[in-house]
Amino acid sequence: MKKIGILGGTFNPFHKGHLYIANAAYTQLGLDLVYIMPCGIPPHKDMDSSVTRYQRMSMCQKVCSNYPYLRLLDTELKEDGPSYSYRTLERIREGHPDWELYFIIGEDSLDQFSTWKHPELIAQSASLAVAIRRAGKSAGIDKVCKAIREEYGARIFLLDSDYIDVSSTEIRHIIREKRDGVEQALASLIPAEVLSFIREHRLYSNGGIELSPKKDIKPSDFPRLKADIEKKLEKKLKPSRYMHTIGVAYTSASLAMAYGYPMDIAFIAGLLHDCAKYMSPSELYAFCEKKDIEISAAEKKSPQLLHAKAGAYLAEKDYGITDKDILHAVKVHTTGCPEMNLLDQILFTADYIEPNRDKARRLTEIRQAAFKDLRLAIEMILSDTIEYLKETGKEIDQTTYKTYEWLKASR
Ligand SMILES: [Fe+2]
Ligand SMILES: [Fe+2]
Repeated sequence: MKKIGILGGTFNPFHKGHLYIANAAYTQLGLDLVYIMPCGIPPHKDMDSSVTRYQRMSMCQKVCSNYPYLRLLDTELKEDGPSYSYRTLERIREGHPDWELYFIIGEDSLDQFSTWKHPELIAQSASLAVAIRRAGKSAGIDKVCKAIREEYGARIFLLDSDYIDVSSTEIRHIIREKRDGVEQALASLIPAEVLSFIREHRLYSNGGIELSPKKDIKPSDFPRLKADIEKKLEKKLKPSRYMHTIGVAYTSASLAMAYGYPMDIAFIAGLLHDCAKYMSPSELYAFCEKKDIEISAAEKKSPQLLHAKAGAYLAEKDYGITDKDILHAVKVHTTGCPEMNLLDQILFTADYIEPNRDKARRLTEIRQAAFKDLRLAIEMILSDTIEYLKETGKEIDQTTYKTYEWLKASR
């Protein structure tokens, strides 16, 4: 028999409290594994609907891949209706008759145990592993345990845990409010890999950061902003460049949908990525010199590359965009960069695969890869670009090489 712990929850987001409880169960009960089981739609909880179940699953997955004793269990995640613990535990038992189950819960949940659906069936399927604060047992816990043992025949184990007094609700609140010292506060509450996922996917921040100097722009302002930028660009750019721009904007939005990124932000980045392309190479060079924009060796030889940096400048000054992620994605859209974030990756790829493109090699393959494995698509784009530039004797920006090396090393 394998001794298996099951830790269920919404994990919206996964935080260190979850980790401490899982660890306490693993070490104190001598478990073989602890399964982290995110639920699909919880029966009682008010879910933050801006975060999808796949994003919650990804956060759990990231943590599990760093701890050998943790595994992800997607039994409840796949369900569309409410998940009830008694049913889930029965199903797990049927599927794994060689597992001895320990259902890991918090002290607060134990108090509520008799209000759950079919507590007697839960008690039949699994032992209860109850995490209590290391600081000491609350006065009534022995009484509660005794009552539950007597009424439902439950086996109950108490776990001494490094309980941290934090809830996912509070964490969401901290992020949304953008309180002072938020980064530091979050680092002490959330595992690093979850924090970078939250940051990269811009979760819990009401669809994104400000899109213009006016700080209170909401996603509902997106249609107006989109129309304003499109109108301006249509006048500035050649028709073929404008067509490409629209193609990149919609492709960016589609990739954003596929990877759980706010699509309005991705669309605006797509719209603005080539906004400086109305300038000739010599005009771009002069423009960057005048604006004190740094010019690399490769850009000196091929000033058309400067449209990315000049574009980021114009996006901010002429189009009023203050969103750092948009400006950064525009700035690096020709070369990528090591540590490129999700929006950088989305825009870089969209620029290459948008429907008006027809010349690049392996376009069909790269387009398909883009929606399944974004990093693989970027690796293919960079390797083909480097090969093409070498063959045609054109200048290769060092950042392109560096990005390629970074991607290969981080796979
Ligand atoms: Fe471009
Ligand atoms: Fe482009």
